[in-house]
Amino acid sequence: MVQRKALVLGASGLTGSYLLEILLASEQYSQVTVYVRRPLGISHPKLVEEIVNFETIQTWVDVEDVYCCLGATIKSVKTREAFTLVDFEAPLRIAQLQLMAGSKRFLVVSATGANARSSIFYNRTKGKLEDSLKQLNYSSIYIFQPSFILGPRKESRWLEEIGIFIALKAIPIMRGKFKKYIPVHAKAIARSMVYHATNSKTGIYTIPSNIIKQWEKPDFNPTT
Ligand SMILES: NC(=O)c1ccc[n+]([C@@H]2O[C@H](COP(=O)([O-])OP(=O)(O)OC[C@H]3O[C@@H](n4cnc5c(N)ncnc54)[C@H](OP(=O)(O)O)[C@@H]3O)[C@@H](O)[C@H]2O)c1
Repeated sequence: MVQRKALVLGASGLTGSYLLEILLASEQYSQVTVYVRRPLGISHPKLVEEIVNFETIQTWVDVEDVYCCLGATIKSVKTREAFTLVDFEAPLRIAQLQLMAGSKRFLVVSATGANARSSIFYNRTKGKLEDSLKQLNYSSIYIFQPSFILGPRKESRWLEEIGIFIALKAIPIMRGKFKKYIPVHAKAIARSMVYHATNSKTGIYTIPSNIIKQWEKPDFNPTT
């Protein structure tokens, strides 16, 4: 089997840490590079940790697959400019650098409602990133659009927790176009990302929350 190399952005986050765990355990990958702002505190023979400044990064690595789970909250970074740096400028710049370096696939966690013309700043930023990535000539681009992301967080996000509570209660009535608002566990997003990278097709694909949700079943296999 020809093994690949991967780059992960956001490996210290909820989705990114599940993703890193899966990639390090996967026989399909020989090396996993992470761009982080501080050490993860883990060691693994396949792991290459690069401490980077996401504001000024101009370097690239030799990998086939780039996974992006980077994302700030306005609460954590305080300003729209700082949010835009983490959720738009840095992922796009790294995507451009990696394309020039020969990467083939780009997989990104965006969000339900992403739309460059949205009146909501968060959705607009996510939509602008999606639109910009779609202009890049990757063999495959996979855009994952989760609704609320479930899983154990180190910090409290009370506004998000209220949203999750309401969304979980509403699951039984989420039908038709509302299915895309189904909350999904971070591990399911990570599993779905690795599946699509390693079974990739040429083109641009957008995967909504209700489809990602299927990956919450431990034995889920889309081919059976
Ligand atoms: N939370 C939700 O319910 C939800 C819903 C839909 C979509 N999303 C999107 O899904 C993606 C993954 O979400 P998640 O909840 O798994 O992420 P998360 O746990 O909040 O982790 C975010 C990652 O981004 C990094 N990051 C945050 N601020 C940064 C900054 N100023 N400079 C550099 N790195 C920074 C974090 O690194 P540090 O550890 O160094 O801070 C971490 O690795 C994000 O793009 C998010 O917007 C989230």
